[in-house]
Amino acid sequence: MSDLRYDGQVVVVTGAGGGLGREYALFFASRGASVVVNDLGGSFNGQGASSKAADVVVDEIKAAGGKAVANYNSVEDGDQIIETAISNFGRIDILLNNAGILRDVSFKNMKDEDWDLIIKVHVKGSYKCARAAWPHFRKQKFGRVINTASAAGLFGSFGQCNYSAAKLAMVGFTETLAKEGAKYNIHANVIAPIAASRMTQTVMPPDVLENLKPAWVVPLVAVLVHKDCEENGSIFETGGGHMAKLRWERSSGLLLKADASYTPGAILKKWNEISNFKNPEYPSGPADFMTLLERSMEMGPSDKGETLDFKGKVALV
Ligand code: NAI
Repeated sequence: MSDLRYDGQVVVVTGAGGGLGREYALFFASRGASVVVNDLGGSFNGQGASSKAADVVVDEIKAAGGKAVANYNSVEDGDQIIETAISNFGRIDILLNNAGILRDVSFKNMKDEDWDLIIKVHVKGSYKCARAAWPHFRKQKFGRVINTASAAGLFGSFGQCNYSAAKLAMVGFTETLAKEGAKYNIHANVIAPIAASRMTQTVMPPDVLENLKPAWVVPLVAVLVHKDCEENGSIFETGGGHMAKLRWERSSGLLLKADASYTPGAILKKWNEISNFKNPEYPSGPADFMTLLERSMEMGPSDKGETLDFKGKVALV
């Protein structure tokens, strides 16, 4: 990617005081962009605040001859972060929604404050930054957004139900931004990274972490946000030099006539058809589900699996 450059562009990186965000900030500054280095500077579980984290990265960029400015707001105040880009550099081209924290606890012991804080930082924070950048993107007919999901969101992860919910929210958020932004040349993609950082240092052994340098997540992101990249609305996993695209898969499914024969028993009889992935489909929007509904309306009655004869009593088993 030696020839990919971002001269004249302004990149906002949230949570850029450490980990992955710091690597993004250093990279884009080294390739000609002006960078807003945002970081609240708190702990990995969202306590405290400090200007130091962002300042250190800004100093590093400036010492290397790059252009950067610090912002210390929480991503919940995304409008102020984008304002920092506008007032210092006059524009915003690329938004990397990267800031994040953890509040890991089993579902049984989850407290409202653990849930609320995670949703606030990841979901509301990404929304607020993108919302503030959006009018600028539309006006200039260019914008690139990267949102940050996680394998925990895509697949679930013990002790992380709050984080999983927030991270899968990033997928739906991205897919809709991609659809709404397409005609304005605004592209949004979502990554599920894996990298050594303060977030992962306590849960992975040192030899594994050694092979997961945060800098190795940067090249894919650099491609996705480049002005020549057409990718939009896609999900990627990346880490340790590996990257892959993910997509939704739907089994060819079971279609029953929606009449009196459409009973739980009729479904149970054909359960294998529902969960058989031999001839999968790859849906990309709600529209193709409507086609299935139309087909259902044209069908004849299905096998009767049971007779519904509810007399107001519930059988006890
Ligand atoms: P990190 O803890 O090193 O970096 C996150 C940064 O975000 C910190 O510098 C922190 O101060 C900042 N931050 C936290 N809350 C903030 C707020 N409200 N406003 C502004 N800044 C805030 O963690 P890492 O690993 O670099 O994580 C970056 C992103 O990647 C996060 O969204 C994380 O959930 C995600 N991720 C990381 C994985 C990994 O393997 N490291 C795995 C999956 C997802």
